[in-house]
Amino acid sequence: MSSKIADIGLAKQGQMSYTWARTHMTILEKIKMSNESKKPLSDYKLGFCLHITKETSVLIIAAKMLGADIAICSANPLSTQNDIAAFLSSEGIKVFAWRGQSERQYRECIESVLQFQPDILTDDGGDLHTAAHKSKTRFYGGTEETTTGVKRLEILQSRKRLKYPVIAVNNAYTKHLFDNRYGTGQSTIDGILRTTGLFLSGKQVIVCGYGWVGKGVSVRARGMGAIVTITEVDPIKALEAHMDGFNVQQLSDVSYIGDIFITCTGHCRIIRKEHLKKMKDGAMLANAGHFDVEIDVGYLYSQDKFPILVRPNVECFKCHDKKLYLLSKGRVINLVGAEGHPPEVMALSFANQLLSILFLSKNYRSLTNKVYNVPHEIDLKVARYAIEAENLRIDDS
Ligand code: ADE
Repeated sequence: MSSKIADIGLAKQGQMSYTWARTHMTILEKIKMSNESKKPLSDYKLGFCLHITKETSVLIIAAKMLGADIAICSANPLSTQNDIAAFLSSEGIKVFAWRGQSERQYRECIESVLQFQPDILTDDGGDLHTAAHKSKTRFYGGTEETTTGVKRLEILQSRKRLKYPVIAVNNAYTKHLFDNRYGTGQSTIDGILRTTGLFLSGKQVIVCGYGWVGKGVSVRARGMGAIVTITEVDPIKALEAHMDGFNVQQLSDVSYIGDIFITCTGHCRIIRKEHLKKMKDGAMLANAGHFDVEIDVGYLYSQDKFPILVRPNVECFKCHDKKLYLLSKGRVINLVGAEGHPPEVMALSFANQLLSILFLSKNYRSLTNKVYNVPHEIDLKVARYAIEAENLRIDDS
């Protein structure tokens, strides 16, 4: 099998980005170094569906150094960093990814990873696992990076259709407490600033959803001087937002005041026609959730079939006699409009991924077809590595 990427000529640039990220991901280096001599993954083929970023390249090269044979595709048609895809390909990884894929090309790349017949599948969002469940191939096991993907796998489990054991990496404390909250908090704001080039201070920012992602985004937006309002359907989370000092309102009541709307719910059709109709001229719409389902983009297109691209990743729709700006096509703003989470936080998530892959490779025979949490010893190990990486000292007793 040969890679399908945009331009192998970008490999050198990708290698520089890889080295930069690796320098800030010492936890992965340590895991790699403590396992490298035994090459514990040398009998395994690994299939990945992850956002192809500089941070992901650090995980992939570490897994390769532990002996694995690897194929990878992207977890989003618009998130691939082409230089990283080229670098990984130049290192002998089978890469099926480029930025700006059509929906069909995106699905074909997932199929290419499955045709490689991996033993263990690592996914971000659940599209690879879903495709794997439609194929006849048998797999030893899998891991899943996101809340959305874990929910999809739990549905398969509840219908007794899960075909292999999966480790819910998202559920590790050292993953969701940091990546989902602080990682998304910083990278979502980064995506909005890079795409719009505007000032956040004094803007009315409406954050839909106060889960880990919503918490991270709202606290960072407030830190930059935005006036933040939370909308929620869960009374406990709404109360939490209130006690954290945020305005809590119904979306229909704040639709007309928001300068920037950010969806952080993981659910479908959060910002709908009735909200879009009320919005003021110039309002901007961004999504921080995994899929492009939270903003009713179809309704925007029904109002204006030919939106104008006013700058990269900013489309202007004429809608009810005003202009509404959709960022990154309603796709995950941090990875499409910026570079995703920074390396220091991805080091925690990907340390959990690598240790979970190693765990699966040793234990898959004794596991049943269930969604498992990351073993607590792994979570603690990652926390200890991170404490060391941050030069912190904690008490023994
Ligand atoms: N998800 C969010 N940020 C990411 C990154 N930098 N790399 C891979 N997946 C991510």
